[in-house]
Order: sequence, then C-alpha cells, then structure tokens
Amino acid sequence: MPTLLLNDGTRTPWIAFGTGTALYKKDAADAVTVAIQNGFTHLDGAQVYENENSLGAGVVASGKPRSELYITTKLAALEPGETPTSALKISLEKLGVDYVDLYLIHQANQHVGKLKEVWKGMEAAKAAGLTKSIGVSNFTADHLKDILEVATVVPAVNQVEAHPYVWKSLGPNLALHEKYKIVTSSYGGLSPIVRGKGGPLDTVIKEIRIRLEKTRGSPVSDGQVLNKWLQQKDVLVVTTSSKAERIREYLDTENVPELTPEEVTLIETTGAKLHKRYFVRPSA
Ligand SMILES: NC(=O)c1ccc[n+]([C@@H]2O[C@H](COP(=O)([O-])OP(=O)(O)OC[C@H]3O[C@@H](n4cnc5c(N)ncnc54)[C@H](OP(=O)(O)O)[C@@H]3O)[C@@H](O)[C@H]2O)c1
Repeated sequence: MPTLLLNDGTRTPWIAFGTGTALYKKDAADAVTVAIQNGFTHLDGAQVYENENSLGAGVVASGKPRSELYITTKLAALEPGETPTSALKISLEKLGVDYVDLYLIHQANQHVGKLKEVWKGMEAAKAAGLTKSIGVSNFTADHLKDILEVATVVPAVNQVEAHPYVWKSLGPNLALHEKYKIVTSSYGGLSPIVRGKGGPLDTVIKEIRIRLEKTRGSPVSDGQVLNKWLQQKDVLVVTTSSKAERIREYLDTENVPELTPEEVTLIETTGAKLHKRYFVRPSA
C-alpha cells in the first residue's frame, strides 16, 4: 500500500475507506470488514456519522491487528463542557481502540469564534497520546490562517471536496497546503463520473482510459483515471463502496500506469471549465 508522508513524520496509506455518505448514520460493520478483507488499511470515520461503534466492530470482525490499520475520526460540534480530548475519549470507546491515527476538526463553522481554542484542544489530545496526528476538514485558507496564528502543531491534513470541477477554486487552499506541507485529502473525488455525468470531462476521461488500457493491456475504469490523477497530485483519497469488486478496483489504481504530464494538465484545464460543487460549501 503506497503511503503519504505527513508533516509530523508519520505516514498514512494513500487511500481510505469512508463510513460517511452512503453509510452515514448506518451500520458500517459489514462494509468495513469487506473493505479490510479486500486490502483497505485506512478507515475514515467521524463522530457525526454516528457509526463509530460499527466501524470498530467491522475492524474486529476483519481479524486484522490494530497495528496494521490506520483509523481516522473527526470532531463534531462540541457540547458545553466538552473538549476535543473528552470527545475523542468517547470515540475511542465506541471504536474499541486506544488511539486513532488521525483526528480532524470536521467543520470549522461548527466552532465559530472558537477555532483557535479548539485547535489548542486538538493539540492537547495529541499530547495525551490519544491520536498520532491532528488535522482539519472543510477548512478554507482563511480558517487555516486563523489556527496557524496559535498552532504549535501544524495541521497534518485538510480533508476537502476535491475533484477536477473544484480543483481551480481550491487554489488558495493548495498554496497554503504546499507552504506548510499539509496533505490535501479528497472526498467526493469520483463526483465527475458519479454525481456530475454529462460534464466536459466525460470525453477526456474516456480518451485517457482507452490510452491506459492499451498501455496496460487490461481494463481500466473511469474511476481509476480520476483516482490516479488524485494519487499523482499527492492527494489522500477518501472513497467508499458497497461492492467488493469496486473496492478491489479502487485498490488496483496503484497498478494502473501513470498519467502523462499532458494528461494531468488536460484533466485540470478541462475541469476548470465547469465549477461544480456537490457537497456543502465550507463557509468562511
Ligand atoms: N469531511 C467531510 O466533510 C466529508 C464529506 C463527504 C464524505 N466524506 C468521506 O468521504 C467518504 C467517501 O465519500 P464519497 O461518496 O464522496 O466518495 P467518492 O469516491 O466520490 O464516491 C464513492 C461512491 O461512488 C460510487 N461509485 C464509484 N464508482 C462508480 C461508478 N463507476 N458508477 C456509479 N457509482 C460509482 C460508489 O458506489 P458503489 O457502492 O456502487 O460502489 C460510492 O458510493 C465518505 O464515506 C466519508 O468518509 C467526508
């Protein structure tokens, strides 16, 4: 499993199996077990998905040792008196583990006026050994600048909606990510083929897929073209599937030949022709 180096010196598997969207507030146990048994080692959960219990049950049922897995969860809105540490302790109990590998602030707009304080709380959770790495999700460049004013630990990851139809608008984020070595993580990465069919990328993806199939001598899927593009951009891909076959297809992306620099550019210039967001826009 290829990995990405985080700015705190740890490594994360480049692709994660998510328990939100299709599994939001649903029992994720079977799906997690199937994902692990087919090769996923990174599981992406969140307090707001209300299924950390079943994520943990899926891990146990897979028989895979905790030490061979990478588990992410995300902080929801804080109740009065709660802190990122106390909220994480509840998550750990539900997940049935002693620590998570990555803990993210899920939404900046759930902590209006308190972002700096919440980030210091994330740092405290890391210092307590409850998480190896800390990061954020759905943060704009302005949200990042806000917490960087007080950060002792720079966020390791920012998980955002990322695909060619939003890539251009992510420019200010990507510049900050590069400056501080923050790994960009994507959700909704397959949107151009799953949620936004009929857009300008359709023919480009098809042409690239046909070229890759010739080079490889075996089938390549449209999804693999998009995930390969994300992988070559050093993005941590967060995806999901209800099907074992598709799970294997996602993981097989690493065996797909590289896109050429021209193909990478073509995906970006074509994607820039249509700005389309499929998930809630993070507010400033
Ligand atoms: N931080 C956040 O705010 C946030 C927001 C959204 C999501 N997430 C995370 O990201 C994870 C992944 O979410 P996502 O749904 O956005 O991932 P995605 O990679 O964009 O899409 C995965 C979905 O696409 C379907 N799919 C894949 N290939 C397909 C094809 N060729 N034709 C038709 N359908 C196809 C899969 O369905 P099948 O079951 O049919 O394979 C699956 O439901 C979530 O579970 C969650 O963990 C985080």
